[in-house]
Amino acid sequence: MVDSDSSEEAALWRWVADYAARYRSSLGERPVASQVDSETVASKLRELESLPNEGTSALACVEELVALAEPGITAMSGPRFAGWVVGGTLPAALAADWLTATWDQNAGVGEGAPAATAFENAALAWVVALLRLPKAVKGTLVTGAMSANFSCLAAARGHLLEAVGWDVQQRGLFGAPALRVIVGHERHETIDKAVRLLGLGKQALTCVEVDGQGRLRASVLARELERCAEPVVVCAQAGNVNSGAFDGLEEVAESVSRHRERRGPGSVWMHVDGAFGLWARAAESRAPELAALCRGAERADSWATDAHKVLNVPYDCGIALCREARSLRRAMETGGAYLESGQPRTTFNSGLLSPELSRRARGFALWAALRQLGQSGVSELVARYAENARSFAHALTGSVGLRVLNDVCFNQVVVLAEPQAGVDPAAWTTRVVQALQTEGTCYATPSSWHGRPVIRFSFCNASTTREDARRMAEALRRVIEGEAAR
Ligand SMILES: Cc1ncc(COP(=O)(O)O)c(C=O)c1O
Repeated sequence: MVDSDSSEEAALWRWVADYAARYRSSLGERPVASQVDSETVASKLRELESLPNEGTSALACVEELVALAEPGITAMSGPRFAGWVVGGTLPAALAADWLTATWDQNAGVGEGAPAATAFENAALAWVVALLRLPKAVKGTLVTGAMSANFSCLAAARGHLLEAVGWDVQQRGLFGAPALRVIVGHERHETIDKAVRLLGLGKQALTCVEVDGQGRLRASVLARELERCAEPVVVCAQAGNVNSGAFDGLEEVAESVSRHRERRGPGSVWMHVDGAFGLWARAAESRAPELAALCRGAERADSWATDAHKVLNVPYDCGIALCREARSLRRAMETGGAYLESGQPRTTFNSGLLSPELSRRARGFALWAALRQLGQSGVSELVARYAENARSFAHALTGSVGLRVLNDVCFNQVVVLAEPQAGVDPAAWTTRVVQALQTEGTCYATPSSWHGRPVIRFSFCNASTTREDARRMAEALRRVIEGEAAR
């Protein structure tokens, strides 16, 4: 049923805005974990056995949606959510995201959506400047860092094969010259997935040993490159998903430069997966020691990052950046006379660099987040994540049964929950994580690091305060004591 009455529509928007305001203001104190699991939500949904024949009013539909969904909503954008690497939501970015849906622009059509095109370009130019990358760098907004890694590696594949006389866009990969991808042992899994999706296969990966924090050993990389006769992509990482550690990017870039001198300009491509870590570069004015962690990243050929983690733009805001737009454009080329808008092209269409055709107009929310914060706000935000991570780790010092395993250099804290004698470490960690989530003060997620089950805390939310970090440490200690006493 379509609502034709505009006052009914207006009531709907007011209802949603009121609900959203109530939800957002509850985030500081509501239990972080959802009240129910997905099967409980699913069983409620099954009560409506099949799609009813008759529709309903939009307002009734949305009220029903909220009633059914709300118990299964995790307060991911709340201040004490520290699972995975999940950012919160800046008010201006959320509002812009609502407007994005309201305007419903297809950002794949360039001049057909002039504002979407211009805002995406403008926001990307701000990102390039904030991350202190070469001015000519161009990019595109994709769904997330996974897609950004995929897009950048597609550009790398085409560029390297072209340099040895193989046009992968025309000829595909059957019979193509071999291509290698050198990664650290602790690269993010999305690199492997991108390599698989690009038809290179996991066997194309050469894994280089890492140090105790998960940083690729630059001397081992240098030796690998000396032996490497094939075209090669070197994938470095800014921000290890467990420890937050950064590969020594300056040394990686040096090895890449030497390889290029030895084997020619098209022999090697350096990519940086900086999903969250690349933003350390934006902290230069407030915390130069954080920016220094990422020194050398500017020498890469491509960068994958996103704005939905560190920058707190709502989800669906990956960023793929390339030193030369041409390689990305060639990899993503698509055609169709029907795609023209009929208007002359006036600006660059970053949709042409994207693996998608129809695309959400992601530039509005990204632009709004940056405009709300300004340069100093971004710098302060990044520095605050690191301060919160440090103060959380510090608050755990001396706690019985808990040990921080990583050097807390950025926003990630890896905690070992030490089991009592005779208790299986994996089972104990799971028990502690579940009890912590049930307790409700905060939310962290399990992982495995250097063969040990651990609990990860990621500080990635603009609304998190020092007091939140203290409460999180206190909750973890309380839970450990409670579980140990059971
Ligand atoms: C280093 C790194 N790369 C890639 C990703 C994937 O990001 P997304 O979930 O935005 O696709 C992550 C996610 O945490 C990450 O930490």
